[in-house]
Amino acid sequence: MTKPIPLAGVIGWPVSHSRSPAMHGHWLRIMNLPGHYIPLEVAQEDLARVLGILPKMGFVGVNVTVPHKEAVLNLATVVSDRAAVIGAANTLTFLGDGEIYADNTDGYGFLKNLQTGAPEWDPKAAPAVVYGAGGASRAVIAALIEAGVPQIRLSNRSRPRAEGLRSEFGSRIEVHEWVRAGDILPGAGLVVNTTSLGMTGKSEFTVPLGNLAPSMLVTDLVYTPLETRLLAAARSVGASVVDGLGMLMYQGVPGFERWFGVRPEVTEETRRATLSV
Ligand code: ATR
Repeated sequence: MTKPIPLAGVIGWPVSHSRSPAMHGHWLRIMNLPGHYIPLEVAQEDLARVLGILPKMGFVGVNVTVPHKEAVLNLATVVSDRAAVIGAANTLTFLGDGEIYADNTDGYGFLKNLQTGAPEWDPKAAPAVVYGAGGASRAVIAALIEAGVPQIRLSNRSRPRAEGLRSEFGSRIEVHEWVRAGDILPGAGLVVNTTSLGMTGKSEFTVPLGNLAPSMLVTDLVYTPLETRLLAAARSVGASVVDGLGMLMYQGVPGFERWFGVRPEVTEETRRATLSV
């Protein structure tokens, strides 16, 4: 019997906005690998059943996006340390016999994007400012702590959510009022927006940015548009800027390698392909 063509995909609800099919499809094409990567719209109530059936249909794994990232942890049989710390998974691998390995590569993608886009950045040298305390923020904070950032100044519209992250991730996190979000910039080495503010169709990112400085590295997890108000302001003062598309691309690398057996490269061509369609 010939070997079945491996299938992978992304499960979410909705999932039509996802750039992952374009990116993984591009990698499969340029490396001439057998395989398909498919967007899979899955409702919450069907999640467990779908994850039971996908491996029987030839799926080797899936990426997971909103709103299933937390729920899949309870359905996995093996959970990586970093997925457990973050409390969510974005990459599932079907190991056979019903075994599901859940991993979270968001923090890896976030750091790799910064290290590649701004190799001069030293995480240990100065505090980081993080805006937002939602799911994306958890992955960013876990990655920054692991990278040795000395202090994280965290500001979120609803303060209790930020306090929650402080109790979980520890005293390196300092919580600040959302109304003072612009005041915590001086002295920071890194500035990160993890909120959905500034995304096409959402409210604008309105944090006062007068305290941005040329010595800072500024990044935004929002990548639609690629040049957000935050990044444009950072660029105009001469700060280093890394956009959010790189995080999306790098978080996809470990999954692709696990499923299709080859580690893909993130290049300009990957960027173009991910943005296309
Ligand atoms: P994700 O998984 O993408 O982080 P999320 O968990 O819904 O999504 O978190 C969204 C983040 O954007 C949160 O930090 C949220 O702030 P709250 O915790 O106060 O909701 C932030 N956010 C969304 N809309 C916002 C707005 N209009 N003003 C300020 N912050 C906002």
